[in-house]
Formats: sequence, C-alpha cells, structure tokens
Amino acid sequence: MQSLIKYALVTGASGGIGREFALRLASEGWAIVLVGRNEAKLLAVKAALSGANAAASEVVVCDLSVPGAAERLHATCAGKGLAVELLVNNAGSGVFGESLESSPAGVEAMVNLNVSALTILCALFGREMKARGSGRVLNVGSFAGLNATPYFAAYAATKSYVLNYTLALRAELRGSGVVVTCLLPGYVRTDFDDNAGVKSAAYKRFSSANGLGPEEVAAVGLAALEDGKAFAIAGARNRIAAFLFGLLPRTAPPAIMKSFLDRLV
Ligand SMILES: NC(=O)c1ccc[n+]([C@@H]2O[C@H](COP(=O)([O-])OP(=O)(O)OC[C@H]3O[C@@H](n4cnc5c(N)ncnc54)[C@H](OP(=O)(O)O)[C@@H]3O)[C@@H](O)[C@H]2O)c1
Repeated sequence: MQSLIKYALVTGASGGIGREFALRLASEGWAIVLVGRNEAKLLAVKAALSGANAAASEVVVCDLSVPGAAERLHATCAGKGLAVELLVNNAGSGVFGESLESSPAGVEAMVNLNVSALTILCALFGREMKARGSGRVLNVGSFAGLNATPYFAAYAATKSYVLNYTLALRAELRGSGVVVTCLLPGYVRTDFDDNAGVKSAAYKRFSSANGLGPEEVAAVGLAALEDGKAFAIAGARNRIAAFLFGLLPRTAPPAIMKSFLDRLV
C-alpha cells in the first residue's frame, strides 16, 4: 500500500546542491527520499532535515552509475510504498581535462549517471505521476550544456542532453498535470570541481570566485519548478552570458572558452 505522505526523491542528496534541495523541500513539508552512494553523509543530511514530515524521510544508498541501478531504486521505493510526487534528478559527475586523455571508465560512469539514470528515473516515476495526473520533475542540467565546452566536452554534452530531453518530455506531458523543469547552474561552490578531477588552482579560484552558493542555486531551481518554467539559468551574470553566447555562431563559444581556459589550466 502507498503511504499517505508525499515524498520528494532527491538524487545526490549527500552534499552540494542536492543537500540543499533536501533541506529546503523538507522545510516545506515534504518527506525526502535521500539517494546517493555515501550512507554516512546521507544519514547526516537526514538528521539535519526539519519540517512536518522530515521524520518520515528515507535513505537509499545507490550508485546510479551502475547499469540497472535506476530500476532498482524505483523498485525499492515501490517496495517501501513511497509515493514519489516530486523527483529531483540532481546527482551528476564531471570529467575534466583533454577529451582524448579521459579515463574510459570515468566517462562511462558519467554518461550512465548524467544521461541514462536520469532518463530512466524520469520514465519510471514520471509514468506514475502521469497516471495520478500530478507530479513534478526537476532535472539538473548546467550552463555548460548550452554550448560546446572544451575540457568539459563530454560532461557539457551530457548536460545538453539533459536540457533537450527535459524540454521534449515537458512537451509530451503538457496538459497531463506533470511539470518538468530543467535547472541550469553555472559555477557553484561545491565539491564538483574536485570530484571532476580539476587540478588547476587558478581554475578553482576562478570557479569559486564566480560561483553561487548551493543554497541559492537550489532555491532558484525549486522556484522555477513551482512557477512551472521550462528552464532556469541560475545567476544574473550567467543569464547575460547565455544571451550573448546565443547571438554568436555555434563554433564561437567553444573557441572563446578554449582560449580563456588555456590561461587557467
Ligand atoms: N558545482 C557546479 O559548478 C555545477 C555547475 C553546473 C551544474 N552542476 C550540476 O549540479 C548537480 C549537483 O552537483 P554538485 O555541484 O552538488 O556536485 P557534488 O558536490 O560533487 O555533489 C554530487 C552529488 O551527486 C552524488 N553522486 C555522484 N555520483 C553518484 C552516483 N554514481 N550515484 C549516486 N549519486 C552520485 C554525490 O553523492 P555520493 O558521493 O554520496 O554518491 C553528491 O551528493 C550535478 O548534476 C552537477 O552536474 C554543478
């Protein structure tokens, strides 16, 4: 039997932007399904949740880069009778560096996580939402997905996928009661750069100095979802940069970014 409490499932809830999604949603009265690989960190986030239904929150340890993991996560929620009314596909990883030198295993895990798991979770939870006639999905893309991005080439391409998939799914679900939104953050002060293998201190200084806090980015995403927007770019400077890059031929932004990044890495 399904629970009467409504659940928001947040992938990558153990830290960074995902932790902030979980804290904010719990404070709004949601019970949270906290998903990630690091159980100790997930339990620490669970303990920090406050809100009317926070105590009903659940931790599910799951490596979403493993084939079949998204299906197992969905089955786990079904087995526990959790009614997931809000899905936040936040977990993501990056692979930084010269594309031809990337570790094949790292790239494969990234594509499995950023592309396959996100798509399968949208399908499995989305069809339940559609059957109920209500639900919300927030997919975390990236500003980097708006243009080809040297040194984050495959990562940025996965995030182009996230945006385009979200927009197509949103069009398919129009009028169904299910809202699908894509959040496009620029630099955010989390562990993302370190986890992506960025070694350059100059790059990290630039990223941190120009980054937003994860709380602010999570708030932008949830507000966009609440407003039923198709997508939201976090940060005024990023919105201006996206507009200006959009005026250029498609080959220009990667060329500009390459010469800029070559001074940092
Ligand atoms: N930070 C930025 O500058 C930035 C910019 C644009 C977009 N984004 C996007 O924002 C999202 C959140 O990133 P963040 O900045 O918060 O990064 P982060 O600090 O590295 O956090 C990533 C989260 O994803 C989880 N995760 C990583 N691999 C996983 C896997 N295989 N299975 C399940 N969970 C996994 C991690 O938890 P565990 O380690 O517990 O698994 C962690 O909770 C990502 O989709 C990222 O691409 C970030």
